[in-house]
Amino acid sequence: MVQDRRIPPFVLDNPIRRAFSPPTRIVSRFRDSVKPGMVVLDVGSGPGFFLPLLSRLVGEKGKVWAVDPDPRAIEKVKRKGLSNVEARVGSASSLSFLEDGSVDFVFSNLVICCLVDHKGAISEMRRVMKPGARAYVSSRKGRGRDPRAVTEEEWREILSTFKVIESGSSFMEWWALVEK
Ligand SMILES: C[S@@+](CC[C@H](N)C(=O)[O-])C[C@H]1O[C@@H](n2cnc3c(N)ncnc32)[C@H](O)[C@@H]1O
Repeated sequence: MVQDRRIPPFVLDNPIRRAFSPPTRIVSRFRDSVKPGMVVLDVGSGPGFFLPLLSRLVGEKGKVWAVDPDPRAIEKVKRKGLSNVEARVGSASSLSFLEDGSVDFVFSNLVICCLVDHKGAISEMRRVMKPGARAYVSSRKGRGRDPRAVTEEEWREILSTFKVIESGSSFMEWWALVEK
């Protein structure tokens, strides 16, 4: 059976990625949607490449939940010592520690395409979002039989469950800023 994909934390947070693909580039697509005091969920955070920026955007009165099934990644997040970030080992499709409608913004960068249960993950993200909350979701463009791959048809289906504020794509990826 195909398992969710694990990626070594050093591949996801290192000076080379920072130099060639700085986190500000992606955060600029949604930064106006994240305000001080908000509750943000970084689902599939990995070791937390985007967490310092997300933490700064919500400020001291806000909170960022970082969730990833890889304990090595969550350990790295904890070592960043960000006081408004709470990190949990967990899966996108089972966010039971978060109440319905408790999150202002969900950030999920290149995660859906690493897991098998796409529907479960999207449904959990929707459940925890407040009415009118926004989410930034991106995925590698996929095809073929790998159950983790997100096909174009599936990507459209995911977007159809939200109001799309802005969307885009590159050679390898799709991204969208959506609203519940
Ligand atoms: C390509 S990495 C992206 C990490 C991070 N979002 C970033 O952009 O730096 C995909 C991440 O999804 C995580 N992942 C895999 N299965 C998952 C699941 N079921 N729920 C949440 N995250 C998962 C992996 O452990 C990995 O950290």
